[in-house]
Formats: sequence, structure tokens, C-alpha cells
Amino acid sequence: MDLGLTNKVALVTGGSSGIGLAIAAKLAAEGCKVAIAGRDKIKLDAAVANIATARAFSGDVREPAQVAKLVDDVVAAFGRIDIVVSNAGTHLPGRMEDVETSALLRHIETKVIGAWELAKCVTPHMRKQGGGRFIVIIGQAGKVPQANGIASAISNAAQHAFVKSLSDDLARDNILVNAVCPSRIKSPLTDALGHLYNEVYYGRSLEQQESKWGAEVPLGRWGTPDDIANAVAFVASERAAFMVGANIDVDGGHQRSIF
Ligand SMILES: NC(=O)c1ccc[n+]([C@@H]2O[C@H](COP(=O)([O-])OP(=O)(O)OC[C@H]3O[C@@H](n4cnc5c(N)ncnc54)[C@H](OP(=O)(O)O)[C@@H]3O)[C@@H](O)[C@H]2O)c1
Repeated sequence: MDLGLTNKVALVTGGSSGIGLAIAAKLAAEGCKVAIAGRDKIKLDAAVANIATARAFSGDVREPAQVAKLVDDVVAAFGRIDIVVSNAGTHLPGRMEDVETSALLRHIETKVIGAWELAKCVTPHMRKQGGGRFIVIIGQAGKVPQANGIASAISNAAQHAFVKSLSDDLARDNILVNAVCPSRIKSPLTDALGHLYNEVYYGRSLEQQESKWGAEVPLGRWGTPDDIANAVAFVASERAAFMVGANIDVDGGHQRSIF
């Protein structure tokens, strides 16, 4: 299937690692010019070294001025932005008593306000160009809150509300806003969580926990960042021209939620 992505310009936040890196590589393979954004310069340099059409851009999505500069820099470098994938983020484990309010605020700033600021900055460019795609990566806790993860449940639910409302605001401008929702994807983020959950919550070895997580997934295994990248490439493509405000689970069936 021709996805119609040749020569599109795509900005992927958190594109230096895990899911974002796979998305950047997939969009590049489909013919996009890709802007990879992140904070850590070493990771950014390593990411662009392996993707011929990619360029690295530094920026912390928690800082509105840095998001504005990021968008300006990408437009200056490539002349336009057709696709934004708002992927930067992390998971903040713990129950209410484990999570400092300041940490929750930082988490919300990254995942919710960061995406909000990105949309505000990129929308005028997309309007001028006659349209675009804005895709947000939202974890499973936004639909089905998970044990020991109240902060992600709060931030991810807010992301869903943001995507649905924004999709309504921008559809008339031909800016199509959608979400792709990963769960149980093996990445540096989930590799690091194994230790935390082992020590803090489940009280099991990493091997036992991984096998439990695998067993919770109907397909019986972890997913890969490429599984998410394939879905994002479709949602970003000309073949998804009638999809607006959707949220697509890519989780091996893990989220047992109808809506
Ligand atoms: N893996 C899963 O199963 C899963 C499940 C649910 C949701 N998710 C979500 O999917 C997204 C990607 O996760 P992943 O597993 O690929 O994690 P990852 O490998 O840790 O990658 C996270 C990326 O986000 C960037 N980032 C984090 N905070 C940032 C900030 N404030 N400003 C700019 N960039 C920032 C990181 O770059 P720097 O290191 O340079 O900051 C890195 O490139 C995250 O939003 C995560 O919450 C993943």
C-alpha cells in the first residue's frame, strides 16, 4: 500500500529512543524528512546517525519557549511541517502516597502541556499549508487505570480529552488529530520499570514479572516499538484521510476496554 508519505516533513518528539525512534525510522523509510527532537544530545546524535533523512533538534517539551523554538527551527530547516508525533514522555510509577505533587506536575507538563504547546505552535503553519496530521502517543492507563500508576492514569486520561477536543477544533482546517495507544512495548522505558515494579510493588523478580506481563497480553508477548511505528505511519498517511479523534490500541489485546 502506498502511504503517500514521500517528501512529507515529520516532527517526532522523544524520537531519540524506543517508540519515538522506531516511528522516526519508519516515517523516514516511507519517504518523510524527519525532525527528531529530544533533550539528550548524545541520544539525538546516535538516532540521526542511523536515519539518512533525519535531523536532530534539541528541546524540552516542558518548556514552552523551547517548544516554540523547536517548531520554528524545524520550519526553518525543512520549510514546513506536515506531521507531528507528540511522543515525548515517561511513566511515573507509584500510588498517591509515593508520588510528590511536584513530580506529578512535571509529568503533566511533559505529557499534556507539552503536547498542548506543540499543537499551539504548529497549528498556524499547518493552517497556512492547508492541513496536517497531529498524532499523540497515549499509554494504556488513560483508558484503564493500572495498579501503582496513578500519575500516568491522570495524565493519560487528560491526553485523551485533549486529543478528542483538539480533533474537533482542527478538523475544519484539515488538520487531523488522532492518538495511538501503546501498552506492553519493550523499550528503554519499560526495561527500567521492571526494576522499579519489582522493588516497589510486585515483589517478584524481573523474569517473573515480565512473564506475568506477557501472560496478561492475549498475544502472550511484549510488543516492539516497530508495532507502534507501523500504526503511526498509517494514521499519518493519506490512507487515513477520514480518521479524526480516533485512538488506536496497539497492545496485543492487553487493554480490555470496549471504548
Ligand atoms: N513502552 C510502552 O509500553 C509505553 C506504554 C504506554 C505509554 N508509552 C509512552 O510512549 C512514549 C514513548 O515511550 P518509550 O517507551 O519509547 O520511552 P523511552 O524509550 O524512554 O523514550 C522516551 C523519549 O521521550 C523523550 N523525552 C522524555 N521527556 C522529555 C521532555 N521533557 N522533553 C523532550 N523529550 C523528552 C526522551 O528523550 P530524552 O532522554 O532526551 O529526554 C526519549 O526520546 C512515552 O510518552 C511513554 O509514556 C509507552
